[in-house]
Amino acid sequence: MAVRQLPLEQPFKGAAERERALEQVRRTAARCRACPLWEIGTQTVFGVGPATARLVLIGEAPGYQEDQQGMPFVGPAGKLLDEALAEAGLSRPGVYITNIVKHRPWVPGGAHGKNRPPRQSEITACRPWLAQELAIVRPRIIGCLGALAAREILGKGFRLTEQRGQWFEAEAAPHVLATIHPSYVLIQPHESHDRLRAHLFSDLRRIAERYRQVAAEEAASGVLSAEC
Ligand code: URA
Repeated sequence: MAVRQLPLEQPFKGAAERERALEQVRRTAARCRACPLWEIGTQTVFGVGPATARLVLIGEAPGYQEDQQGMPFVGPAGKLLDEALAEAGLSRPGVYITNIVKHRPWVPGGAHGKNRPPRQSEITACRPWLAQELAIVRPRIIGCLGALAAREILGKGFRLTEQRGQWFEAEAAPHVLATIHPSYVLIQPHESHDRLRAHLFSDLRRIAERYRQVAAEEAASGVLSAEC
């Protein structure tokens, strides 16, 4: 089942009300015990960014740095994402950035443990948090980073190798595009690294282009959103 924006009983009136609603969900999520990951994590890593963001980027799950700092995409994958955003002309503070799983999945090994992909049971347990974030932010555009995030938003049949870089309409947002996860680019051998990095960067440029179109349409119709 793909994640969708939950219908609201009472639509939010303004930006401040949406920020308050998001803060409330963030506080509740900080105490989440819906799957066992909380026992091995430092903290819940909730989404960051304006409650009125037009664009939401969704990754997989926090890594070591994110677990330590309590913020998504602040480690090596985050640095690459920042570069791609800057190159596309998008400012990170205007984007809402989150993950499908909000505690770090890892196994013992090395100095800081080794990240592992989240299990389906962990993704399912975490789904209500993402659904609530989307219900409050109500993005016009979603960028899915990696196949797991894409399947959450676009459904289980989504195939990243064939469908990355294409636009879809989903219940979660009218414009959805999935790209390669920055962490996946970072672990590529030399031969494929540059090609996959170029895909990530060109997909972010496509998102920025769509962002500007949507912003122009909204400006024409008087809608208020966070700028990035
Ligand atoms: N990878 C993710 O999917 N999310 C993060 O926050 C960091 C790395």
